[in-house]
Amino acid sequence: MDITVEKANILKGTIEIPADKSITHRAFMFSTLTKGKCKITNFSKGADCLSTLSIIQQLGCSIDYVNEKELIIDSMAAITAPSKPLNCGNSGTTTRLITGILAGQNFSSSLYGDESLSKRPMKRIISPLELMGASFKHNDYKLPIEIIGNELQGINYVSPIASAQVKSCILLAGLNAEGITSVTEPYKSRNHTELMLKYMNADINVEGNKVSVQKSKLSPEDLEICGDISSAAFFIVAALIVPDSDITLKNVGVNETRSGIIDVLKKMNGNIELLNERTISNEKVADIRVRYSKLKATTIEGEIIPRLIDEIPVIAVAATQAEGTTIIKDASDLRNKEADRITAVKTELLKLGANIEETPDGFIINGKTELIGDCETECYHDHRIAMSTYVAGLICKKPIKINQFQWVNISFPEFINLISKLIS
Ligand code: S3P
Repeated sequence: MDITVEKANILKGTIEIPADKSITHRAFMFSTLTKGKCKITNFSKGADCLSTLSIIQQLGCSIDYVNEKELIIDSMAAITAPSKPLNCGNSGTTTRLITGILAGQNFSSSLYGDESLSKRPMKRIISPLELMGASFKHNDYKLPIEIIGNELQGINYVSPIASAQVKSCILLAGLNAEGITSVTEPYKSRNHTELMLKYMNADINVEGNKVSVQKSKLSPEDLEICGDISSAAFFIVAALIVPDSDITLKNVGVNETRSGIIDVLKKMNGNIELLNERTISNEKVADIRVRYSKLKATTIEGEIIPRLIDEIPVIAVAATQAEGTTIIKDASDLRNKEADRITAVKTELLKLGANIEETPDGFIINGKTELIGDCETECYHDHRIAMSTYVAGLICKKPIKINQFQWVNISFPEFINLISKLIS
């Protein structure tokens, strides 16, 4: 699906942001580790989460849709061997977290994925799981991977990277391992796994950047999932850069391990207010009001990077409209996402007329530049590149064409419908 994006005059109104992708994956997967039924309210309908749902079904769980917003997962007391290889689609989170669950089972299983996922590095989970006694067959640590179920031992793992997928994978394996399993990260990555495991009464302990678990069965709980700040990010930046905009985004997760984008954009002089702050299923939630702002440049580096890793492409769009030089560094893992997001963002924003340079671990962006557009852009099989370019298109002088915009469906099938509501 190719689409055309035209300059927007203003964004105005209130919308509800769809459910968080990271939390939905966890709700689906953790339900399989209970002996009972979990009701999940407001789950993500993105293709990535549907990959996880299909996999847990193939592992023997039953899924009952109560209505459009609610489903009940019954794990039937334990997961069972799948009859065929499991398709993780485009989803790194599905692959890395389910591998942690499958490594300690008394059966073997295989995982595969699409072209983009088959290029992504899996050594980061295979190596620590092997230290726990897990066993795999693979070619150069890439999908397809065969997981040979084994008994696992706890480890004390010091991770070289701050990655919630790596941390969660090891902790999930640890729930089925003898002894204590600990993961220590250089910086704190998103902590949805820790919060949900606590909510489901796992034996888990968090001390700074170190998380430890012991063998536990989870208790079935009903979970309500808040809106995804990574989806909200596109609207937040759009409202900041389209003159006179004033929008409110309802029910957005503002967990501090995810809300780095709000801290950075506020530092850039963004007019962003958090309203009606509350807690849902152990996660902090707020409504977010955003108004058009004259942005100024900043430097983004170090500890904050894992708190906004998925938002960097759209932050780069904001930086093109900020006075001065914005520097983004320490983000080399962006090259290992659904696409090489450093090269992809630079290439596409350059086409639109931005002043942006790529560095090994980030960008140098000089602003403020008028974006011209009048060109065709690519999505690189990457939903976040698709939506970031769309946001940039809203301020281009002339229309842009985005090829293969259907990649948006990976995380945010409601995107076009919701942005249209704010523009009209
Ligand atoms: C995710 C963790 C992040 C993020 C991804 C979702 C998760 O990946 O980029 O979109 O749900 O745990 P890394 O942990 O590899 O940084």
